Amino acid sequence: MSTTWTDAVVVARYEATPRIAVFDLARADGDELWEYEPGAHIDVQVATGLVRQYSLCGPPGVRKQYRIAVLDEAASRGGSRAMHALAEGDTLRIAAPRNRFGLTSVRRHVLLAGGIGITPLLSMAQSLDATGGDYHLHYCARSRSEAAFLADLENHPRVTLHFDDQGPEQRLDLGRDLGEPVPGTAVYVCGPGGFMDYVLGRAAELGWPASALHKERFSASPPPPPPAAAAAGGGGESGGGGEGGFTVRLSSTGAEYLVPEDRSVLDVLLANGVEAPNSCGQGICGECIVRVCAGEPDHRDDVLTDEERAEGLFTPCSSRSKSPILELEL
Ligand code: FES
Repeated sequence: MSTTWTDAVVVARYEATPRIAVFDLARADGDELWEYEPGAHIDVQVATGLVRQYSLCGPPGVRKQYRIAVLDEAASRGGSRAMHALAEGDTLRIAAPRNRFGLTSVRRHVLLAGGIGITPLLSMAQSLDATGGDYHLHYCARSRSEAAFLADLENHPRVTLHFDDQGPEQRLDLGRDLGEPVPGTAVYVCGPGGFMDYVLGRAAELGWPASALHKERFSASPPPPPPAAAAAGGGGESGGGGEGGFTVRLSSTGAEYLVPEDRSVLDVLLANGVEAPNSCGQGICGECIVRVCAGEPDHRDDVLTDEERAEGLFTPCSSRSKSPILELEL
């Protein structure tokens, strides 16, 4: 599956907060953009070799233009800085939307947003408003001045705002605001890593099953700590497969490539001319997912569900192998 791109132009830009810029993007040729479901994101190529993923936050169904919101991050790897330098009339390239964070078919939806994580959840809320769906959105921000889209969210009967710099009683309290699991309810979480870890951990403590929790991260979780040196069974290198490396084999041709400790499976495949779709390179977007035919994967992604892992799915950009050989359906 290859990514489909189009040239786009910034048709509007405004500052939602001092650090969040909102961009409306239209096709440069004036045609309609692709349809998408709430929760979808697009790849944006801001400059040559600089591709970042941004959730679509406008109302789904509007195909004349897409809306994205970009946080100017202090620890930017270049993407948010380059986006913030764009002005109306500037051009860039965008790819067809992908979605691994869509609404599920349940009676009730609880949307939990932290900071810029509001973007996919805003699209979900707009869609649920349009279809009469039952939901509640909790939006957490450091302060009122750092909260985007307040004009849409404030005073909305299905939205509760939580600001870190205000009284403790209005801060997010999952015991109160989420409570114990309710059948027919799905929870959607998006935000910075610390927020995600807190919400997902607390929801699990409250008894919510993993199957009811849906998440989208903007950056990869920190890697797991290295295994104890004295771990039973020998080997034990975090690279998997002994000596820190392992062999990846393609099921279609039987070709084998060594994956050293300091390179990803995806890097090795691409360097050997294997056509392997990819986007984020961090195990968060799902674009590179392939099936494992043989071997024992060492999953290090933030995108696959437990069911998908059990079905044999695998992310070559971030995950590795526990066995000396890992055969992939490629
Ligand atoms: S490229 Fe995004 S999950 Fe692998």
